Parts: sequence; C-alpha cells; structure tokens
Amino acid sequence: MAVGIFDSGLGGLTIWDAVQKRLPDHEFVYLADSANAPYGVRDADDIYNLTVAATQRLFDAGCDLVVLACNTASAAALRRMQESWVPSDKRVLGVFVPLIEALTERQWGDNSPPREVSVTEVALFATPATVATRAFQRELAFRAIGVDVEAQACGGVVDAIEDGDFILAEALVKSHVDALKRKMPHPQCAILGCTHYPLMHDAFQDALGADVRVFSQAELVAESLADYLNRHPDKAGQGSAAFLTTGDPKKVSDRATQFLRRRLEFQSA
Ligand code: DGL
Repeated sequence: MAVGIFDSGLGGLTIWDAVQKRLPDHEFVYLADSANAPYGVRDADDIYNLTVAATQRLFDAGCDLVVLACNTASAAALRRMQESWVPSDKRVLGVFVPLIEALTERQWGDNSPPREVSVTEVALFATPATVATRAFQRELAFRAIGVDVEAQACGGVVDAIEDGDFILAEALVKSHVDALKRKMPHPQCAILGCTHYPLMHDAFQDALGADVRVFSQAELVAESLADYLNRHPDKAGQGSAAFLTTGDPKKVSDRATQFLRRRLEFQSA
C-alpha cells in the first residue's frame, strides 16, 4: 500500500519525513523530478506538464493518492489538474490547504463570510512562480479579513539547496528576509511557502528574529493527510515504499542523506 509524494527535488522530503512519522503503518513512494528542478522559475504551463508527468509516474507505481509536496506545483498546477486531468478513481492533494486552514483557524469547506483571525501581518517566502500566482493571498482573502500578506520571491534558494551549497543558501535567505523586512518591518508570522525552505529553517528564524512564529507546513500536511486517509482508507494505494528520481540517483541519494541524516537510496524513475 503506498501513497505518492511528489516534489521537484529534495524539498518534499521535509513533508515525507513528517508524514511517515505521523503514519508509520503506511508506505510512501517519493518522486523527485531532480532533472527538471527548480520549478519555481518556470511558467505555469511548464509546471503543469511536468507535474502531470510526475503524478502519472506515481499512479503507475500503484499510488491512488498523490500529495504534491511542492507549493509551486500546488499553486500553479493543482487546480487545473483536478478540473481536467485527474482520473475519477485517483486523488491529488496539495500542500496549501492545511496551511490556509491553520492560518485562518477554519476548515477548507467552511463557506461562511471571511472573518478576523489572530494574525494581521504575514510574511510569505516562496518561489518566484508561487508568488506570481498570488494563490496564497487569494485563498486567504476568501476566508480572513484584515490580514496583510507581504510576499518575497526567494530566487536562488532552491538551486543552492539542490546543489548542497548551504553557505550560499544561508546568504540568500538572509538577503531575502532583509528585503521582506524593508517592505514589512514587523511580521507576526512567516510562512515558508516552499517545501525546500524548512531545510533552512534556522537561517530564516535567525534572520526574522525569535519573536516571529514560523509555520511548520510539514506537520500541518501530515495531520491533514492522516485525517484524509482515516476518511478514505481505500486511497492508501498499492505498492511498496520507494524513492525515485529523474536525476542522478547517487547524487540525489547523497544529498537526501545529508539533509535527513539517515541513508535514503533513490532509484531512477
Ligand atoms: N519544493 C518546491 C516548492 O515547494 C520547490 C520549487 C522549485 O523547484 O523551485 O515550491
């Protein structure tokens, strides 16, 4: 039984890590489209086509449910996929919904008018493609009033992480946080709206200051997936755990092992 987890690269492992701890009895097939990462500098059609191909690969591996552990794909491709591509016996979920639910303190399906929530100044860090969709601000505006969102497109951070260059990644995080603070000097909370960014959590927290709450998307997604599988046990799928990549399996395995501090073996997708 396997659930598919997809990301352009290694960032989705932050989601995989939380999900497999929360659901230890489930198997997961992780797919990193490393050959085509980063997605965050691509246009919406490109992101859609790559995400569809990767999701199909996970359906072929026996997954009936695929989690797009990638904010860029969730923001730029998921709605179009659900409206026109996902077969009726399969499901594809994104990573945005649990985040919006947590921030707005309400369920996704709650259609009551937008209301005030406890946060008013939110810093959003995401890839250029995610920021360009304005999906986060749109979904928030349906549900909450009086929330000011300042988005910072963090060019270069995903590339530096995929290359294992943490010194560059840290320097870029600091400069992106500085740029955000010039626009919003005192955010109450920060959303790391790219699944790669939790790998640089400490750099974000240091640059933002200890009083800024950084939302953990991974735990929220894990909780939401557990709830979903509880309600839809038939979607747990078939097949056994695997780590697949469209890139060089050895290089991707080494980087993944470095990030998660335990050996992960990727195979060619
Ligand atoms: N982890 C992806 C996300 O959450 C990274 C995107 C990229 O490949 O640029 O947006």
